[in-house]
Amino acid sequence: MRVGDAIRRGVTRLDLAGVASPQHDAEALLGHVLGVPRFRLRLADALSEQQEARLEALLVRRCRREPLQHLTGRAAFRYVDVEVGPGVFVPRPETELLAGWAIDRAAGLERPVVADLCTGSGAMALAVATEVPASQVYAVELSESAHAYAGRNLAGSGVDLRLGDIADALADLDGRVDVVVANPPYIPLDAFESVSVEGRDYDPPQALWAGRDGLELIRQVEQTAARLLRPDGWVGCEHADVQGESASVVFAGPGRWSDVRDHLDLAGRPRFVTARRVCHDGSS
Ligand SMILES: C[S@@+](CC[C@H](N)C(=O)[O-])C[C@H]1O[C@@H](n2cnc3c(N)ncnc32)[C@H](O)[C@@H]1O
Repeated sequence: MRVGDAIRRGVTRLDLAGVASPQHDAEALLGHVLGVPRFRLRLADALSEQQEARLEALLVRRCRREPLQHLTGRAAFRYVDVEVGPGVFVPRPETELLAGWAIDRAAGLERPVVADLCTGSGAMALAVATEVPASQVYAVELSESAHAYAGRNLAGSGVDLRLGDIADALADLDGRVDVVVANPPYIPLDAFESVSVEGRDYDPPQALWAGRDGLELIRQVEQTAARLLRPDGWVGCEHADVQGESASVVFAGPGRWSDVRDHLDLAGRPRFVTARRVCHDGSS
């Protein structure tokens, strides 16, 4: 089969199955099978029978809404890519904005200390360590499975990865961190319908759900960030698009933060809140 025909057929199948980005995914799967980047696909030779069979098997799985990144085993994130699969959350493009914010904050400092809470695959920690080489980055993850992926993704990066609960993690850094960044679970337990089939069926439940209002872990991020940050240090925390106000209230409430501000994603939806630690007031 010629490459153009393989793409066209793939797009039709994926579109019918309700996949949100059929053209992109058909090309990515074909590129994976042929071992060439997407932009070079049109230069590739026709598919062998073996390649056709591999592509067919992947298309069947994608039509069942298995995440594209589980099929290729990799997820791109800013200038890095990480190993992903069952047992770890697939990093999302919208989180790249939060990572970019943390990178901008850290890049202005001489030897910044950055903590990535709820690191999952380690994508944000790796992006910060790569783009701000002078930084010392710490990452925390509770799930043993996700921690194992992060361990492989962060090997050789200099990131200090810890297995544990963000509630009491990194006590050795209390009051010394410049930037805390977090993409915690934030889906309310009853918001089942708001999650894509791929997320609902394949992301680990521990990565998604966060109590009745979805703010349980965001409240914990607020408390842990208050403990870790030095005065004037910054926290950035992702939230659901319906939590622009409620997530900001979590930071506006306790009187330990200034400059509380919500940020929009590229689609204009509320996506992450940032705040600056006022001082150590004994309440943390
Ligand atoms: C939404 S995922 C985000 C992963 C990663 N930051 C990203 O953006 O791709 C949330 C992660 O938080 C982890 N997690 C949940 N509760 C935690 C806790 N109390 N302490 C540390 N990690 C936790 C989950 O296992 C999951 O890997």
